[in-house]
Amino acid sequence: MNPRLARLQAYPFERLAQLLADVSPAPGRTPIALTIGEPKHAPPAFVLEALRANLARVDAYPATAGLPELRAACARWLARRFDLGVDSVDPQRMVLPVNGTREALFAFAQSVVDGSGSRPPLVVMPNPCYQIYEGAALLAGAEPWYVPTLPEDRFLPDLERVPRETWERCELLYLCSPGNPTGAVMSTAYLAHALELAERYDFVIAADECYAELYFDDTRPPPSLLSAALATGRRGFERCMVFHSLSKRSSLPGLRSGFVAGDAALIAKFLLYRTYHGSAMSIPTQLASIAAWDDDAHAAANRQLYREKFARVLPILAPVLDAPMPEGGFYLWAATPGDDREFARGLYSAANVMVLPGSLLGRDGPDGNPGAGRVRISLVASIEACLDAAHRIRDFLKEPRS
Ligand SMILES: Cc1ncc(COP(=O)(O)O)c(C=O)c1O
Repeated sequence: MNPRLARLQAYPFERLAQLLADVSPAPGRTPIALTIGEPKHAPPAFVLEALRANLARVDAYPATAGLPELRAACARWLARRFDLGVDSVDPQRMVLPVNGTREALFAFAQSVVDGSGSRPPLVVMPNPCYQIYEGAALLAGAEPWYVPTLPEDRFLPDLERVPRETWERCELLYLCSPGNPTGAVMSTAYLAHALELAERYDFVIAADECYAELYFDDTRPPPSLLSAALATGRRGFERCMVFHSLSKRSSLPGLRSGFVAGDAALIAKFLLYRTYHGSAMSIPTQLASIAAWDDDAHAAANRQLYREKFARVLPILAPVLDAPMPEGGFYLWAATPGDDREFARGLYSAANVMVLPGSLLGRDGPDGNPGAGRVRISLVASIEACLDAAHRIRDFLKEPRS
C-alpha cells in the first residue's frame, strides 16, 4: 500500500463522534447539528430544471476541458464578480471545470508538487484549515507547514511568521478567503504580498475562494487572488490558481460543480493530469452550471438568508459568548469559556446541540494549537433551528457550573 495513506489524519467529524461517544444528549430535545458545512438552503429551481431538461445528454462522454460555453460562463462570472474587465480571463486557456473544489484542491497538489528533490518540498497552509489541503500535501509527497491564524492577526495567516528557509522549500501555498473556519477575508494588499513572495521564492498559490459569494458588507465584497494579480500588473495570473464552487454560492453541494481559473500554463498541466485522472464533469451538470453562473439574483438572495441568520443569532449569543461577526462565510468562530472539547461535550449533554471544537480542526504547533479554545458554529440549518440552538447555547452558558 501507499505508505503516505497512513499519515492522513481522521476527519474532524470522525474525531468529534469519538469525543461525544460517551455523552448522553439531553433527552426530549431535538438534536441540532451546527457542526457541518453543508449548505441547506433550497437549490435554485431554474438550475434543477436545466439539469432535468438535459438529462438525455448523459449518452456521451464529456470532455475533461468542459464545454466552451461553461468555461465562458465561468469567465463572465469572474469578470462581473471581481470587476476584472471583460477580456481579462481567457475562457479557453485560463478556466477549467472541476467536480467541486474539494477534489480540485486535492488533485492540484498532485499536479504542482515536484517530489524529485533530495528533501520533501513544503506546502504552506493556514492552521486551522480545510483538512483537504493537508491530505493533498501528504499524498503529493510534500510536508505540510502550518501558519497559525490568530486573533491578533485578524485570523489571517501572518505570512511574515514563515521563515525564509520554509519559503525556499515551499512549492505550493494554500490560502482560503473568506476563511473556513475563521470567516476572515484577505485584502487585495494581503494577496498582492502573497504574490510577491510566490515570485521571489518560486511557488504557486492555490486560493480557495469557495465562500466568495457569502459576505455581509455590499460595499466590500471579498477580492480574488486574480484581482490582486491584475492590480499588480500580473495579467497572465502567473503562479495563481483560484477555486470556485456552486456548492455555497448556489446551495448546490450535491451537484459537484466548480471551476478553477488562473495561470494558463498551470491550467494546461492540470488539464493533462485530469485527463488521466478521469474527472470530467457530466454534460447535464455542465449545462445546469451555466444557468447558475449566469444568474446573480439567486446568489444575492442566498447571501441575504445568511445575513438574516447572523443578524438574529448574534444578539442572542453576544451576552454570553465571544462570537465576532465574520467578514464572510457561514461560520461563527467563537471563543469558549474554557476548553473547547469540554464545551462541545457539555453543550451536547445539556442541550443536544453539536458544535465543532476548534482543536479538532487545528494542528499543534510550537505555540500550541491555534484552534484550541474556540468552536466552529455553522449556520447552515434553517433559521428556526439556528435560533433554537442559539437560545440553548445561551441557556447552557448561563447555567451555574459545578
Ligand atoms: C474551505 C472549503 N473549501 C472547499 C470546500 C469544498 O467544497 P465543494 O467541493 O463542495 O466545492 C469546502 C466545503 O466545505 C470548504 O469549506
